[in-house]
Amino acid sequence: MNKPAGRYLRSGKVKDIYDVGEARLLLVYTNRLSSHDVMLADEIPHKGEVLCRLSTYYFSKCSISGIETHLIENPSPDQMLVKKLFLIPIEVIGRNYVYGSFWKRFQRHEVKLPEGTDPILAAKLREPIVEFTTKLESKDRLITEKDISTYGWLTPDEIDEIRTVALRLNNMMLEDAERAGFILADFKVEFGKDENDKIVLIDEIGTPDGCRFWEKSKYQPGRAQDSFDKQIVRDYLEKEKGWNKNPPKPGTKLKEPILPDQLVQKTSQRYIEAYERLTGEKF
Ligand SMILES: Nc1ncnc2c1ncn2[C@@H]1O[C@H](COP(=O)(O)OP(=O)(O)O)[C@@H](O)[C@H]1O
Ligand SMILES: [Mg+2]
Repeated sequence: MNKPAGRYLRSGKVKDIYDVGEARLLLVYTNRLSSHDVMLADEIPHKGEVLCRLSTYYFSKCSISGIETHLIENPSPDQMLVKKLFLIPIEVIGRNYVYGSFWKRFQRHEVKLPEGTDPILAAKLREPIVEFTTKLESKDRLITEKDISTYGWLTPDEIDEIRTVALRLNNMMLEDAERAGFILADFKVEFGKDENDKIVLIDEIGTPDGCRFWEKSKYQPGRAQDSFDKQIVRDYLEKEKGWNKNPPKPGTKLKEPILPDQLVQKTSQRYIEAYERLTGEKF
């Protein structure tokens, strides 16, 4: 890794952010990993590079398809020089399957399924769905389009534009997932605005951290699915550390590594495998 240029600004869960002037940021994708909303002290070798290269792969596809993104260039394989944009404080969620918080809301009768969708866990939605959650609050919360425009974050036309882009991104990622033998159950993307109020795709896209990928050959509707890369870590923490009953408080940062070396190596290999299967390129 090159020593990052610029002035250190802050660290998110996965990326370190530097201000390099001229309305640009340097994003350093690190090897940090979270599970159960807890930051582990263990690092997964090559994970940062996998996320950065996968995002770059999709951002490049976007530019060919006329979808504007923040990518300028990669100073090194785990670093991304990007346009600094005004963050739109929402996360845009695309869904192809009934899962996660959407399944919970369905069970509480808070959402209707598109007509023809089986009312069971992990069923395929008859049509993809786009939803919005808040971003800068302690817990992500679903937000209506009406509230997004009432808060003055986006106009109804801009919301439509973002929904259309999210569906195009979904199609783009579905193509690769299909070829790779993965199911893309759902994904999250973020957008910013430039000085002319143009909407631009930011952050990361198409990575195992921001998407739920399932192994297609193991898919069985009606039960919980293994998510491709992190499941082995989740399983270990639940079986060996009792996190299914007693996880640390969400948001906790652990100080000491707790994963066996073999599991760390295996997780690293899974991230690399995801990269290779999705892009069809050698890591
Ligand atoms: N082009 C950009 N301009 C401004 N902020 C950005 C841009 N791209 C990403 N970000 C923000 O930088 C942070 C990336 O770090 P990350 O570790 O993913 O954080 P988080 O813990 O919020 O997921 C996110 O808060 C994201 O919204
Ligand atoms: Mg993030």
